[in-house]
Amino acid sequence: MLYEVYLRSFADSDGDGVGDLTGLRQHLPALAELGVDALWITPFYPSPMADHGYDVADHRDVDPLFGGLADLDALLADAAEAGLAVLVDLVPNHSSSVHPAFQAALAAPPGGPERELYIFRDGRGPDGSEPPNNWMSVFGGPAWTRVPDGQWYLHLFDTGQPDWNWDHPAVRADHEATLRFWLDRGVDGFRIDVSHGLVKDGELRDNPPGPVLDDSGFREEGEPRVWDQDGVHEIYRTWRAITDEYTARDGRPRVLIGETWVRDPARLARYVRPDELHLTFSFSLLTAPWSASAWRTVIDTERMALAAVGAPATWVLANHDVVRPVTRYGGGEVGVRRARAALLTLLALPGVAVLYQGDELALPQADVPPAARQDPAFARSGGTLPGRDGARVPLPWSGDAPPYGFTADGVDPWLPQPPGWAGLAVLAQAGDPMSTWRLLRGALALRRALPHLHGDELHWRDDAPAGCLAFDRTDADGRTAGAAPPERATPGAPTSVGPARMTCVMSVGQEATINLAGRLVLASGPVGYDGATLTLPPDTTAWIAPRDG
Ligand code: GLC
Repeated sequence: MLYEVYLRSFADSDGDGVGDLTGLRQHLPALAELGVDALWITPFYPSPMADHGYDVADHRDVDPLFGGLADLDALLADAAEAGLAVLVDLVPNHSSSVHPAFQAALAAPPGGPERELYIFRDGRGPDGSEPPNNWMSVFGGPAWTRVPDGQWYLHLFDTGQPDWNWDHPAVRADHEATLRFWLDRGVDGFRIDVSHGLVKDGELRDNPPGPVLDDSGFREEGEPRVWDQDGVHEIYRTWRAITDEYTARDGRPRVLIGETWVRDPARLARYVRPDELHLTFSFSLLTAPWSASAWRTVIDTERMALAAVGAPATWVLANHDVVRPVTRYGGGEVGVRRARAALLTLLALPGVAVLYQGDELALPQADVPPAARQDPAFARSGGTLPGRDGARVPLPWSGDAPPYGFTADGVDPWLPQPPGWAGLAVLAQAGDPMSTWRLLRGALALRRALPHLHGDELHWRDDAPAGCLAFDRTDADGRTAGAAPPERATPGAPTSVGPARMTCVMSVGQEATINLAGRLVLASGPVGYDGATLTLPPDTTAWIAPRDG
């Protein structure tokens, strides 16, 4: 399981109210205990923090806010010791506007070679006072900002995040050097920010008119000139060759995982062809409504499209950009019940599972007062977009009141934590057998232990009642659970001692009853089960293993 660490909000070791690398290092044992296999750490590079680190001024160093390179090295060493792989965040679509290359571009005259590294154009209209095209920033407003000499530069995100020109060989070479820099330091791979955005329409043509502000995250249908351009794949082939080179040296897998907001599964699958990225988040599940049929359709279509290129699915329900599942699924008790059920189902699916920090605590979206909001999306959209701060509030670790062990007592975390989170804190949940933290720790241990969950097979059960999701998993070889493979079977021993499956059942929105022989290994809430008939209250998931398996 891959665990997203939103570094600013994970744990603060130096009392400035912002999480840092040493804070993360100090809490690695807690992550190992939960059952995490790999971490993805959000950007820690030098940055003016216009987009909280996704505006990178130097891709090959650490911002003092988060520590230094020595802290990163210490973190990598401890993580390796604890058996945790570490992926860092690569932000190749844009740099910070304070990046030396952008500063040089600003200082250069229009047409100067320094401007070629970014996307500078003359404006439209008689005096060039209109932006070069109709593209919009993801954070609201035009995607172009005018500089004093009259030219405009492109930024798909904040004005402080100018887009690189990926047609320029120096941009490619610089990023390849960055990959090697971190691989040489020992990282296990990269999460690639906005991986569907690097290459733009060659002529920067207008998008078709129509609404472009879409908060689902999938924007390529409304903005076909901006996202998912064919030219991007060549870049990933080069990067894959680099990671393969490092893997070949010592056999340790190096992984590239794309943040690819592309809705069409066949288009998405192109990013994970055998010589491109290893993985790409399946955001379709994250955006699916709370409905059994919607989940089933998404799971089938994603799996089918990815199987065609030989890649596993990567399931995720949350990250630092979206409303937390508890709140998305209805909030309050209902939201918690659904989020727990959803996570247990996610962990039973074939493929890679990703958790966002706080998923293991069933944290709700926090209500951050407008005056305390920090997300540029809130400000740039004039408040039309609520911003993502509510998903980024610092983690509660212990104690009865803010800062809940996130930072030193008396220090204000960079985003305010709500007053009622004492019961959600890690320490409180670790001591409560019914907590979400304990549920997920149990699920992750079983996910490792149960061979049925290791293969790639998934069989929907036809006897699932309406509104209920039920599927069987067989072990990695598709063998009957509990039975020895024929070549190793002891003469006289039964060839099959249990049903050929482990079953995951999730009731969605209504109670569900299903006949199912076996034993209950885990459930997201109270269920009725006598070894033959399973009754699930609404919004509950249970894992049923063979009686002898
Ligand atoms: C990705 C990040 C998001 C950031 C954006 C621009 O979507 O996840 O947080 O704002 O890219 O870098």
